[in-house]
Amino acid sequence: MSEMLKKIAQKRRTFAIISHPDAGKTTLTEKLLLFGGAINQAGAVKARGENRRARSDWMKVEQERGISVASSVMSFEYGGCSFNLLDTPGHEDFSEDTYRVLTAVDSVVMVIDCAKGIEAQTKKLFEVCRLRDIPIVTFINKLDRDGQDPFALLEEIEQTLALEVSPCAWPIGMGRDFKGCFDLRQDRLNLFEKTDKGALPAIGEIIEGIDDARLDALLPSDLVKNLREGVEMVRALCKPFDETAYLEGYQTPVFFGSAIHNFGVRELLDALVSFAPSPRPQTTVTRSVKPDEEKVTGFVFKIQANMDPKHRDRIAFMRVCSGHFKRGMKLWHQRTQKQMIIHNPVMFLAQDRELAEEAYAGDIIGLPSHGGIRIGDTFTEGESLMFKGIPSFAPELLQKVRAVDPLKAKHLSKALEQIAEEGGASVFKPTVGSDWIVGVVGALQFEVLADRIRTEFDVPVIFEPTTYFTARWIAGEKADIDKFIALNHATMAVDHDGAPVFLTRNAWHLNKAIEDFPKISFLKIKE
Ligand code: G4P
Repeated sequence: MSEMLKKIAQKRRTFAIISHPDAGKTTLTEKLLLFGGAINQAGAVKARGENRRARSDWMKVEQERGISVASSVMSFEYGGCSFNLLDTPGHEDFSEDTYRVLTAVDSVVMVIDCAKGIEAQTKKLFEVCRLRDIPIVTFINKLDRDGQDPFALLEEIEQTLALEVSPCAWPIGMGRDFKGCFDLRQDRLNLFEKTDKGALPAIGEIIEGIDDARLDALLPSDLVKNLREGVEMVRALCKPFDETAYLEGYQTPVFFGSAIHNFGVRELLDALVSFAPSPRPQTTVTRSVKPDEEKVTGFVFKIQANMDPKHRDRIAFMRVCSGHFKRGMKLWHQRTQKQMIIHNPVMFLAQDRELAEEAYAGDIIGLPSHGGIRIGDTFTEGESLMFKGIPSFAPELLQKVRAVDPLKAKHLSKALEQIAEEGGASVFKPTVGSDWIVGVVGALQFEVLADRIRTEFDVPVIFEPTTYFTARWIAGEKADIDKFIALNHATMAVDHDGAPVFLTRNAWHLNKAIEDFPKISFLKIKE
């Protein structure tokens, strides 16, 4: 193990932002990049998004719906650390993709709108973080607008998410009266100023504790009084920040700010530098892989088609788990048992794609692919390894799909296979009949898929309702499985990997099977 690799890994911060749509994730992303010097003027993230959307039909669906389907990776430097920010699609219909992105991060920033508190999508994403014990920093946004009382917000987080809160800052006023925050960790007063898009707020004044008379000189007396009372209550009611509790996912440090005015962003970044985790060891079927191991390993957590319509290529996003990756390296593709030379990997900087020359644990590189790479695939320098924990979820909606032109059935099956490999949808081939069944998590995905199959594969298709209610992968002893398949022939299918899937007609049908076959596991998640 190398000291150099260890040092580099310690300076990596790979994270994602989770939030309900409209809480300010895009705005905060822009501001993080602004502080990180990756963009000069806020607004670049959005402009780039629109630019990209205008270029492809598929993206039109996004544009029309005002949602972001595609997710990308942005890298920037701040405070001596290299940050990789993995964007997560905001719309709930695409949450499966988001779940997989969360397998590739070491920590998460949860953005909450101070007027709305915990919303449905935030809660759902939080549950995934909890399952994986991902540490969470909370950023309560839009303090420049009237919102709920900060204590009420803290209580809501504690109650709804069963997560201990530890405020690291305390807001002074709110809405029109918002004056700034008192930094509880550094005893610093950060005064709020509405800043122009590109301007960064001044670094706050150091105050000798909450009783310092300088506070009285800097703020109106009623606000100072409220602040002192508020801070006293916070210190009495909330536990102090405990790094271990944060790293284990029990406690969330809470920051307040106004992303649109660049306020509170520096404190958030400073916190990520000082305590967000660096790349963690990753589990494989056989052993745990440490980030400072010499040899390169990584896994693919996302495949994205059409990043560049001119090339019709696909990019497999790989999280590097260990080693020092260099461009042109030969990597061993575990599933296909083949060597691949990675000639032109890409990294995703805020402005554009760049050729990746090198990468370390925690970094994300894009492997251009013309097919052949799948979600969950492991790459190594030769060792036989398989990373665990990249999930497939049983779809909640199932539809039949057929080509408008029956002569294009073959093209359709190729398109479906490719989409299934990318993780864009589940595709099942029933044992009986010639239809394909496509399963998704949210209804909007059917539209996106129809659009993709038409534009990318030139096959206009029709989705139609089925009599199926849900799908479950089945697992167990071979003899039991064979018996189950024989008895349920009419409602069995295989997924794109050939794994057996039970298509159920209704909840009763599923429950009956569970009762009748206690030795079989009916799985909602396949890893
Ligand atoms: P999202 O990615 O989480 O969906 O949210 P996004 O950043 O797009 O923000 C949603 C809306 O909230 C945007 O307004 C944005 O300007 C606004 N917003 C974000 N942060 C703050 C903040 O700190 N204070 C205030 N007052 N507003 C904030 P919009 O009108 O929908 O879009 P736009 O026209 O401003 O782009």
